[in-house]
Parts: sequence; C-alpha cells; structure tokens
Amino acid sequence: MKRRSFLKGAAFVAAGAAASPLFKACSTPSKKADLSVAGRFSYGPDGKFTLLQFTDTHYIASDPRSERALKCVQEALEGVKPDLVIHTGDILFGKPDIPSALEILQPLAGSGIPWAVALGNHDSQFGSSREDMFRAIRSLPGCINLEPKEGVYGCSNDVITLSGNGLEHVFYLFDSMDAVVLKGEEEIHCYDYIRHNQIAWYRDHSRHFTSKAGHPVPSIAFFHIPLCEIQEGLTAGTILAGNNGEPPCPSRLNSGLLAQFREMGDVRAIVTGHDHDCDYVLDYGQMYYIYGRYSGCDTVYNHLGLSGCRVFEFTRGEPGFRTWVRLYGGEIQQPLTLSRS
Ligand SMILES: [Fe+2]
Repeated sequence: MKRRSFLKGAAFVAAGAAASPLFKACSTPSKKADLSVAGRFSYGPDGKFTLLQFTDTHYIASDPRSERALKCVQEALEGVKPDLVIHTGDILFGKPDIPSALEILQPLAGSGIPWAVALGNHDSQFGSSREDMFRAIRSLPGCINLEPKEGVYGCSNDVITLSGNGLEHVFYLFDSMDAVVLKGEEEIHCYDYIRHNQIAWYRDHSRHFTSKAGHPVPSIAFFHIPLCEIQEGLTAGTILAGNNGEPPCPSRLNSGLLAQFREMGDVRAIVTGHDHDCDYVLDYGQMYYIYGRYSGCDTVYNHLGLSGCRVFEFTRGEPGFRTWVRLYGGEIQQPLTLSRS
C-alpha cells in the first residue's frame, strides 16, 4: 500500500482521537519540570556503546507476510548484540493490534537487552488507544520507557543518557503521534506535529544537562515522523550515504522543534523512520537527518530489498558517533563517522 493512500485513513483515526482522554490529559503543560530519565547507561569495558535502531516492522500476528520482520529482529539482535535498542515506531499494522505488537517485540523482551520505543502513526490505528498500546508494550521485560508524562503530549516521550567521563550523550525520544485535523476556513489534514509542551519538556532536560555539564551535551533525537525541514535539506543539503527512494512525508505543520534544537545547541542528529524506501543520512544546516533501515515485512509498501536495522556506535570521550546500516544476514552498508561537535 502506498503512503498517500493510507494517510487518509490515519487522519480519520486522529479526528476521533482528538476527543480521547489522552489528548485532554496532555493539554495543560506541567508547571513543574519533569526531569525523569528512562535509562542511564555507561560504556562497556572496551569503551564502546552500541545502539541498534529498528523501525517500521509493520507486524501482523499470524500473517505469513509478517514472517521476515520477526526473523529480521531476531537475527539483528544476535548479530549486533547491542547495549540498547530503540524502535522508532510503526511496530504493528493490523488486528489483533496488541498481540501483534507483543509478538514482534518478543525477541527484544527475551534478549536481556534494554529497549525503548518511540511510537509511530500506525501504532494506535487498529482498535487500542495509544495509552493502552503503550501500557501493553511497557509491560514487556526490558522495556525502559517510563509512564507518559503529565502535561506532555503523547506517550513515548523519554530521555536516555550515556555517561563516560561525565555525561557524554543524551538520547531524546519524542512521540510524533498519528495525524491531526485542524478546523478552520480551510481544514488541515496532515501528520501530527511535535507540540509545544513536548518542546518545553525537551528544553527543561536540555537546560538541566547543559547546566550540569557546563556545556551542551551532544544529543540525538529519535521519533517516527521526520521534520518538514528535511524537504528543504534534500535540495540544499548533502546526502552522505544511503537510499532516497521516496519523498519524505512529514507533517505540514512546523512547530519549531528544529529551531529549539539549534537554540539549545545539543541535538546534532534527528533519527526517524516512516518513509520505508529511505535509509539515508542527510547533512543540512548543521544537523544530520538520519533514516533507519526498514525492519519490516510485506504488509505494506517497501522497495529497498532486504530488511535490516541501523546501528550507532559511541566511543568514550568522543562527541560524535559511527553509524551504519546492517542488512538481514549481516551485510554492512553506509559506514559513516559523524563527528560534528
Ligand atoms: Fe511505516
């Protein structure tokens, strides 16, 4: 199924979701900064830390078209043996939705490796509310996501830290939600956008870490739907490596998250999924826009060939990182060292 055709369905779902308890609960910003951290990590004895990203597994339990996604996840975990896994959403793509999510995440739950999710637009489109889906995922062993924060839009907003010689890296997970319908003279239907209270939540953490470290701490943001600035980046920036198989499909609404990243001076890379035929690294405006490698199956469109994952490797004392795509079976593609500080 092509993306343009399933966006319509997504917008319809979001129109219903706009009246849900989740949206009401998250409409008022918290007065007190929530500085909770989902996971605090340190380097291994070799001075390395490996983070594996899965994205867009689009799993449907008991559907034979899903088989290769499950194999992909299992094989990557065994092949990479990461210290942390982040799944950037579209975990499932059909009913039964919670059993589908739990089944594709089972290899993570049984691996003994800590993991977290940043939910995708499809993860609450098949019956269960986003809150119920997130609660079910959090119940699995190894999941480090914290409970949804009061006053912060969405569910999967979390912070993870990596320390060596002091705090060296921060990973921000944002919930980029599903889709949105804004009423007015001209009704706007589009993918959702990162809300003001999510940005405030990020700024609270960023300010705290900068104050503690005495400088902005190199950070990476993970979420499902790319920012709209990536479109300009494709004409004005440089693709350092990877496949560019389709135009990006961000929200039509720009709430200024990129400006906040630049203003706070810590986030150097934005890592997303969502556009299945892209797995590139784009360098534009002092920011790396990085797509994960499609980790899914044949329940939706995909034209890259083998599924896989993206790996990030951090070295103690270094502000940058290495990243590459790993395909099912072990082939490495696009090895890059991204060292902008
Ligand atoms: Fe997807």
